[in-house]
Amino acid sequence: MSDSARYSWLKDELASLDHAYYVLDEPILPDIEYDKLYRELLALEQLHPEWVTPDSPSQRVSGHVGDLFSEVKHVVPMLSLNNALEDKEAAAFDKRCRDGLNLTSVEYAAELKFDGLAVSLRYEKGLLTQAATRGDGYSGEDVTANIRTIKAIPLKLRGESLPDILDVRGEVFMTHKDFEALNQAAIAKSEKTFANPRNAAAGSLRQLDPKITAQRTLSFFAYGIGQCEPSSLIPKTHFELLNLYQSWGLPVCEHRAVVQSIDGLMNFYQGMGALRDQLPYDIDGVVYKVNSRDLQEDLGYVSRAPRFAVAHKYPAQEALTTVLGIDVQVGRTGAITPVARLSPVVVGGVTVTNATLHNEDEVRRKDIHIGDTVIVRRAGDVIPEVVSAIKDKRPPTATTFMMPIHCPICGSHIEKQVDEAVARCSGGLFCPAQRKQALLHFAQRRAMDIDGLGEKIVDQLVDLEIVRTPADLYRLGLMALANLDRMGEKSAENLLQAIHHSRKNTLARFIFALGIRHVGESTAKDLAKHFGSIDQVMSATEEEFLQVNDVGPVVAQSLVSFFSESHNREVIEQLLASGIELQVEQSSILPELLGKTFVLTGTLPTLSRDEAKAMLEKAGAKVAGSVSAKTHYVVAGEEAGSKLEKAQELGIAVLDEEQMLKLLQLK
Ligand code: IVH
Repeated sequence: MSDSARYSWLKDELASLDHAYYVLDEPILPDIEYDKLYRELLALEQLHPEWVTPDSPSQRVSGHVGDLFSEVKHVVPMLSLNNALEDKEAAAFDKRCRDGLNLTSVEYAAELKFDGLAVSLRYEKGLLTQAATRGDGYSGEDVTANIRTIKAIPLKLRGESLPDILDVRGEVFMTHKDFEALNQAAIAKSEKTFANPRNAAAGSLRQLDPKITAQRTLSFFAYGIGQCEPSSLIPKTHFELLNLYQSWGLPVCEHRAVVQSIDGLMNFYQGMGALRDQLPYDIDGVVYKVNSRDLQEDLGYVSRAPRFAVAHKYPAQEALTTVLGIDVQVGRTGAITPVARLSPVVVGGVTVTNATLHNEDEVRRKDIHIGDTVIVRRAGDVIPEVVSAIKDKRPPTATTFMMPIHCPICGSHIEKQVDEAVARCSGGLFCPAQRKQALLHFAQRRAMDIDGLGEKIVDQLVDLEIVRTPADLYRLGLMALANLDRMGEKSAENLLQAIHHSRKNTLARFIFALGIRHVGESTAKDLAKHFGSIDQVMSATEEEFLQVNDVGPVVAQSLVSFFSESHNREVIEQLLASGIELQVEQSSILPELLGKTFVLTGTLPTLSRDEAKAMLEKAGAKVAGSVSAKTHYVVAGEEAGSKLEKAQELGIAVLDEEQMLKLLQLK
């Protein structure tokens, strides 16, 4: 294809991708693929400036004003940001700023790049009067009614000297938790689900019925400003603007900083990169803005983006690849999970070859065929998953997935309960796959903590029929282990030592290690505390299980059925016979303090407020922030103020640190 033919193809392709993304809220390509095409277009335009026409995607901010909402003109246009995909592009941005401003070092405000959709909120004398989407950057859609349903957005700003007119710019987005809840509810009603939180946020904001928007929890962070009258109210720096917003009651993300020069920028980028997986919402990068608003004006704008800001992107969490096949995996409880075998693709810096499809219903709902081009997502430590298939790219040879009738590992029937999405192998511990998973669960750090007993070893031990149950682990000899693949005598010895050490363990870990369905770590702890010995647990009735903190009918039923299986009882007896010693962790709860409310005030002589609080809570007491008739004790230190007075007024017992420690039986 000639350069000019490629150029017109790119223009058309980008226009239809924009349409799908901005107008239909149904992206057909991951952002990274879009960016590649866009950069290719920019490169061609640099070579041939004479080709550029006003309809090129580079000449406008992408988007389209739909005909569903009325149009709002932006007094100050809503521009876009240039991207830095590599560190050296961030360094080039800093250099351009320094050169442009004739400075040796520039101060920046650094913040997160939220993955949602931009909106402009108009406040007149502090009251929210209008809200609009970005649209094409010059006019957007009037979404006031929907925006008003977002609880994070104040209908009235707080404070005294508020501007007559203020356009707050920011991002509407959906947290992971709200996104999961929305999709779960949609699945329950057999409705269409959203591929990612960004689409969910966009789809929810562009609902014609604000009642529906109100049912979907959206979030918002402010990060910019449009029109402001009088403009003298705008602070000198971007960072101060964010602080001012916060004081007016607008949500501003806490992860923001003022940094100097490229070192400061890179520190922020790496720091936030490390935090990215723990954030409750998606970000696709960080944004750097020259902090001084005067200097921002000096640098100015170029076509669709400011020169004073840049988005430094993180590796994309989504990528495009093809499904080579769909296999099933058997889990510890026999759960059969369809897994897509993928043509290898790098997602977020890691090569992915498999991605989960969760269960058969999901495969049908997402309509994934073998041979399809799909979007895979890998976020943080979560197992990579197939998000959606690109229907337009489905080859005629694509085939559908059929759930096997028999377990591929042990041949037992695969069963599916009516009320469960998950199909299970009925083979139980007869199934080597379930046995392997059960052993790995038993040995994991949070259970019996057998260091060195990993997947490769367990596979061999089960396949060679050396180990069938956890009890067999305690009968292993050096020779049996040393003969395994990838096992020297030294590592065999270490493993034997680790197995030996695991004999001394807590009752709670042992109960968790058994792998009883619905019994996680915290239930195991509650059971250990309640019953005190494994014998008591094994002989408890359903009613007795129901007496345990947080144990409901499902868990109680699962416990009863586990302990009524003779082979489970045998394994436990063998484990105990092999010298396992279980201790019950002493409860630190003091019955006389259980449920009592304390208030801490003033500076204590040796303990910090947090230490004192932790000690009280460990003993079962509650710690409250203010004194009321419901307060049992006030612990007062130096310079205790109004809380102490209130306690005295109400006749509440006041203790000093020493008296508190005595009460905690620590003195
Ligand atoms: S500033 C003139 N700051 O990124 C600069 N944008 O590509 C205007 N975005 O449409 C944008 N987080 O949807 C800015 N902290 C942030 C942002 C941010 C996300 C989005 C916004 C905008 C797009 C620009």
